[in-house]
Parts: sequence; C-alpha cells; structure tokens
Amino acid sequence: MTKILAIETSCDETAASIIQDGRQVLSNVVATQIEVHAKYGGVFPEVASRMHVETIVPVVNEAIEKAEAGWRDLDAIAVTYGPGLPGSLLVGVNMAKGLALGRGLPLVGINHLEGHIYSHWLRVPGDGMAPDDLQFPLLILIVSGGHTELILMRDHLTYEKLGATADDASGEAFDKVARLLQLGYPGGPQIEKLATEGNPHAFRFAKPKIDGEFAFSFSGIKTAVLRTVQTYGPVGVDGSIAASVPIKDLAASFQHGVVDQLVDKTLAAAARYGATAILLSGGVSANKMLRYVMKSKSPVPVYWPPLWLCTDNAAMIGAAAHFRFLAGQRAGWDLDIDPNLKLVE
Ligand code: KG4
Ligand code: ZN
Repeated sequence: MTKILAIETSCDETAASIIQDGRQVLSNVVATQIEVHAKYGGVFPEVASRMHVETIVPVVNEAIEKAEAGWRDLDAIAVTYGPGLPGSLLVGVNMAKGLALGRGLPLVGINHLEGHIYSHWLRVPGDGMAPDDLQFPLLILIVSGGHTELILMRDHLTYEKLGATADDASGEAFDKVARLLQLGYPGGPQIEKLATEGNPHAFRFAKPKIDGEFAFSFSGIKTAVLRTVQTYGPVGVDGSIAASVPIKDLAASFQHGVVDQLVDKTLAAAARYGATAILLSGGVSANKMLRYVMKSKSPVPVYWPPLWLCTDNAAMIGAAAHFRFLAGQRAGWDLDIDPNLKLVE
C-alpha cells in the first residue's frame, strides 16, 4: 500500500491531496484564485504566485487532517514541476522539497499533463468514470487552458504525441472568445452556459486547414468570431461591443465549431491506432457538449472525470505519482521547475 502527499501549484489553484495506491482519494483540498483573477480577466502571474505563498501551508495541513493520516503513514511527497507559470510552480516545488527533506521522505516530480491523464485512474463516483480494467492502447485527448494534444498510451507512463494545436489551446480559445463577448474569466463555463440558449448553426465557421492529420487550430475560429462581432459595430477601446451582437448564438456556434474539430480528429486517431477507449482530460473536458458529442459518435467507450477532477487539482498528481513511485522514479534535491515541460519531446 502506498500513501502519497501530492502538491499542485502550476497555475491558479493551490492544491494538496493524499492518494492511496494511485486510486483512492483520502483527501483533496483546492484553494482557487478564480475570483481574484476574474478582476483582471485572466491569470495575473505575480498575483498567482503570491497567493500560493499565502495558502500553501494551510492547504497542505488541511489535506493531512482530512485524510486522517499522520506524516509517518506517508511513503512519498509528489509535486508538479511543469508545465505552468514559473512563479507558481516554484512555490509548490519548494514546499514539497522542504517537506520531503524535513520528514525524510522521497520526492517524486510530476508533469501536470500526466496528472490530467491519471485522473482517470482515481476511483471516485461520476457518470463518465473509466472502469478499473482499462486496456491499452488508450487514446487521450488533453484539452486545457494551455494544451490541446492527442496522446496515444500503449502502456503506463508511455506516451506518443499524435498531434497538437498549431496555435491556441482549446481552453485559451474559450477564454479569449469569452473575453471578446464580455463574459468574464474563466471563459469555458460562461460560454457553455450561454450556448445552451443559443443556436449552434446560426454562424458557420469554416474548418481550419492545417498540416498534420491530427493537428488542431483554434485561432481562425477565434478571429472569425471577432470579425462577426465587428459587423455589428466597432469594438471599443474598453472592449465594449455593440448591444445588438447575438452573444448566445455566437457562443453556441463557436462551441459547436470547437467541439466538431476536437471530435473529428479524436475519432480518426482512435480508429487509426485501434484505441480501446478515449479518455478526455483537462479543464475543457468539463464541457458537456464535448463529452456527449464525442460519446454519441464514438464506436469505442469515451470516459471523462467528474467536474472537480477536470480542472486543476492535486489528486490527479498523486495518482500519476503512484505509478512513477512504483517504477522506482525519484527526484533529486536539485529538482527544478520546467515551465515548458513536455509530455513527449
Ligand atoms: O486544466 P485546467 O483547469 O487548467 C490548465 O491546466 O490549463 O483548464 C482550464 C481551462 C480554461 O481555459 C477554461 O476556460 C476551460 O479549461 N474550461 C472549459 C470549461 N470549464 C473549464 N472550457 C469549456 N467548457 C467548460 N465547461
Ligand atoms: Zn490543468
């Protein structure tokens, strides 16, 4: 049996969790900074790192208390060391090092994207959760604020990148279009909410033409939304838009375009590589339209984590850390952050 304390501070959530055997969530604490960053319309890096500094100790203490675990029960300390915001990552990595050193525990460094993938191995209630006996090869669609990638997993901890976005990440496109439509941050949930009241066929945004069979592109559709908004009147210097802009129809049509592209490429890749299942990971996998369109069109099962596991958390970092720990991987005391860390080079 392993019990791992995992710490995640790569962006704007300060999170700590204790995970048993890579599957059971003994505790999961997330202090979100969303309300603070909403004021700026996005994550403000220096504010993010300073808020991590303030909250990291109480968050870790709460994770220990809630798990009713003593420090002596722990086998390792795991931490996200990239990709992410440098100032944010530093807080988590230094906290984890201090704890590991002080408690005489091994340190395991985890890639944030690997964490999103391993959220599927956690055993928690949820309508889209993967079963215990997932069989490789698996196709993973990572869709978050910073990444959009199709990954083939032929075994634990082994990844092949089949394609990625050529420009914006899908979550980034949601956030930028939401800002343009004056909907606030984070954009994904706001667009999804408005889209339920709009017509997804009101505007037709052409599919992007890009090199690479499994590559994505979202900057074209973002620009197309801007051009459409401008046909109703100029965008003000303060970002204001004409009152006549059909925001709900635009939100629905934009979401439709993004989901269409994600689904098309993912299903083509799943067929090509004989994937036994498709796993949706990352913040954008919270999107219900994406989940249901993918599921209704896919010949193989499609799984997604419950909402609280889609967005950033430390439980997923603990799940990934379990498999790395079992494989004998340990980080040295010189573990550094890597803001541009890749899953596959
Ligand atoms: O994985 P995540 O929490 O952080 C990163 O690692 O980037 O993903 C955050 C992204 C944001 O861009 C946010 O707008 C998007 O996920 N997102 C959504 C939804 N919920 C969050 N996008 C579309 N629909 C949603 N319901
Ligand atoms: Zn993330």
